[in-house]
Amino acid sequence: MAERKGSWLHAMIYFLIHGTIMVTLPHVPNTCTHVRAHALSTATVSYNFNSKPKSKSTNSPTTPRFVSSAADSRMEYSDDDANIRSEFLQLLRSRRTAEVPLSVEPAQPVRDPLYQETPKPTFSEAMESCPKKEIPNLMERLQEENFYLTTEAGEQGRLPVLLLKLKENNQTRRPVVVFLHSTHKCKEWLRPLLEAYASRDYIAVAIDSRYHGERARNLTTYRDALVSSWKKGDTMPFIFDTVWDLIKLADHLTQREDVDPSRIGITGESLGGMHAWFGAAADTRYSVAAPIIGVQGFRWAIEHDKWQARVDSIKAVFEEARIDLGKSAIDKEVVEKVWDRIAPGLASRFDSPYTVPAIAPRPLLILNGEQDPRCPLSGLELPESRARKAYEKASSIENFKVVAQPGIGHQMTPLMVKQASDWFDQHLAPSG
Ligand SMILES: *[C@@H]1O[C@H](CO)[C@@H](O)[C@H](O)[C@H]1NC(C)=O
Ligand SMILES: *[C@@H]1O[C@H](CO)[C@@H](O)[C@H](O)[C@H]1NC(C)=O
Repeated sequence: MAERKGSWLHAMIYFLIHGTIMVTLPHVPNTCTHVRAHALSTATVSYNFNSKPKSKSTNSPTTPRFVSSAADSRMEYSDDDANIRSEFLQLLRSRRTAEVPLSVEPAQPVRDPLYQETPKPTFSEAMESCPKKEIPNLMERLQEENFYLTTEAGEQGRLPVLLLKLKENNQTRRPVVVFLHSTHKCKEWLRPLLEAYASRDYIAVAIDSRYHGERARNLTTYRDALVSSWKKGDTMPFIFDTVWDLIKLADHLTQREDVDPSRIGITGESLGGMHAWFGAAADTRYSVAAPIIGVQGFRWAIEHDKWQARVDSIKAVFEEARIDLGKSAIDKEVVEKVWDRIAPGLASRFDSPYTVPAIAPRPLLILNGEQDPRCPLSGLELPESRARKAYEKASSIENFKVVAQPGIGHQMTPLMVKQASDWFDQHLAPSG
């Protein structure tokens, strides 16, 4: 049993910023055989940063262990990272429906996908801009899979997956790129990107995030889910529930015979960038990450009065909270209360200063717009400097890069798509 200086330091910093907090999570069962990333033995966790952080033995069950990830055996993860992953997983488990075995159910291609915005989006330059290999009859050579993964009980526990790859391939195991869509879009929107990655011999994967695409019924499903989460506090429709699905997706991908389990990359746009960030932080089987216009400082935004653009992107839940809290306008207290309720820890323990460094030493490229009001650049200073230290400590500073494209607001550009693509080529190297 040894005290770790690092976790002490983090705890002190955390305490200085937030004061003492005590969180007691309800009992959460630990029977899921498919989430192997984190084996939790404790049913109740207390965070009390005013007292000594709990020490742990080196063979702690919270240490991430994976069955066959070659990348993982090369990686050294700190105790702090293991702790944050285990705390995050425990939070995810605390709002799950019943556990079900991971199963794969065949699905039909979606011909008329549901977009929760009007008018329906039709074309995006960035979507079409991903580097593509010139292959005659590419469409005929692509193999498409549509299926559902069961990630928990209930309607939302059915994860729709779209997967594209080249048909003929002599190499049995290939790298994967998971691309996650933005708010109100769906997996079908990403098809041009998937085709481009598939043409270059990746296995290209997209999902519908919670309350989107096939997991939505109408134009207000996502909005309704956010409001309901505020009212009832039983789900986490903003980011976190989809991260649970991404852990299950990693279970599936690492079990496939066509996938090299040590080469799974994750990226996404906006909300999808947040999913990529948290997915990589939560699950080390995502071995390379390139979140696009998603990484931001939620606490920083509250403290610097820069939360407005983020709030505007999912306004209804904040409006509802304002009314419930008897306020005449949405203010920082409303913002803080909403995050605490619908995504606990988002503006504290699991905010970017803690979860971005947890991705080290895996290759991480953060792509943002310099003028993005939803991800203000100044909010990245703390996570960036903390991540830089983590990568330096792991002697892998070359694996960490932040690019803020000048003159660009909240927009995924062709340049970002290209840079993410190059990052995967550099670190996942498909042969082909
Ligand atoms: C790849 O496999 C195909 C079909 O099995 C075979 O015809 C071809 O010669 C193989 N190519 C290489 C480079 O091994
Ligand atoms: C969307 O579906 C939900 C649940 O079925 C329903 O309560 C809501 O009124 C619907 N909204 C619209 C705009 O149709």
